[in-house]
Amino acid sequence: MDLAGKKIILGLSGGVACYKAAELTRALGKAGASVQVVMTQAATQFITPVTMQALSGKPVYTDQWDARIANNMAHIDLSRDADAIVIAPCSTDFIRKLAQGACDDLLSTLCIARPAHLPLLVAPAMNVEMWQNPATQRNVAQLATDGIELLGPDTGAQACGENGMGRMLEPAQLLEQIVASFQPKILAGKRILLTAGPTFEPIDPVRGITNLSSGKMGYAIARAAQQAGAFVTLISGPTALDAPFGVQCIQVQSAQQMHDAVLAQVTDQDIFIAVAAVADWRVANASAQKLKKDGKDGSAPILEFARNPDILATVAALPKRPYCVGFAAESENLLEYGEQKRLRKNIPLLIGNIGHHTFGKDDNELILFDADGHTLLPRNDKQVLARQLLAVIASRLPR
Ligand code: CTP
Repeated sequence: MDLAGKKIILGLSGGVACYKAAELTRALGKAGASVQVVMTQAATQFITPVTMQALSGKPVYTDQWDARIANNMAHIDLSRDADAIVIAPCSTDFIRKLAQGACDDLLSTLCIARPAHLPLLVAPAMNVEMWQNPATQRNVAQLATDGIELLGPDTGAQACGENGMGRMLEPAQLLEQIVASFQPKILAGKRILLTAGPTFEPIDPVRGITNLSSGKMGYAIARAAQQAGAFVTLISGPTALDAPFGVQCIQVQSAQQMHDAVLAQVTDQDIFIAVAAVADWRVANASAQKLKKDGKDGSAPILEFARNPDILATVAALPKRPYCVGFAAESENLLEYGEQKRLRKNIPLLIGNIGHHTFGKDDNELILFDADGHTLLPRNDKQVLARQLLAVIASRLPR
């Protein structure tokens, strides 16, 4: 669990987006965090403390003079063993309070009385005009200067019926950003290019050849790299997954499109990780029209195949190549084939999947092949493995 053992104070200020805070509370709990909810009076107009107590499993604090805290200093005591304060939603007025150091209610007093090292993350939520107002922008700039981390906002349809910047991030996106804030920035400033998912090789306009890759491992690495501070570009074949937050995602279908997209992006990358299950062959005689069952003379169509470019080998052969990492899903003889493949592709690191049974699963087991031999990353959740793998890669980058 990404937030196991973490104690998070979730502060709600007034705004329709309070309804998303309910789901965020659940998501934080599922990720292993314990959540202490603190609400402003305005927030209680939008969602009740009863709901937030039920979801967080703890009494909710709304009042600076709450007698349930023995010494009556909720604004001090609540934050002393916390790992982060998250304000979601953070209203226009609460941003102003944080910028000015106001302390006229429990939540604002708690923020100003937090220990200097305690991260404060705020998720703005407001109408587009309120967000764009120069006064708000001045206050937002002040938060950044003061080391307060902004999560969003996003752009899109708003509860008031208007459209634009100011929507609060979705709970899943907030969760990703909160997890990210706890990750060591081992790839700060690095540029990482990845391929992920299957490719789809057309037979005709409605049919094609693909494989069982779900994209989960590649997306997990992209997410972990972004959370470790890297600029991440993900070139993805067709998957059912949402792009990880903060990752530039370029969707492609065929191996040739993936190859072209990679070559368009590869300049100045520090690391290239080829996770995609790329089709080695494409249909050379793909039909521009849908193939009919009864065909020309009633006989079955005959497909001809042509070799696809090897994307990883192409990147590895570039004169100014990034640090290249390949993946291999083998059905047998992994130890032998893995090292052979690493040498054939001329790359410093190749990751072997044990068996092809990993496709679509949430966990995996990896073998790392390098010039010194091989090492095992034991079975674990793909997101955890992604972090472990990136720690290995980061330790091998030229300084
Ligand atoms: N790869 C690639 N382009 C291809 C084929 C593979 O970039 N046309 C990359 C994959 O993303 C993976 C690595 O090469 O990182 C190994 O892929 P794999 O399919 O296991 O190996 P192949 O080179 O296709 O070798 P073989 O079919 O003999 O197993």
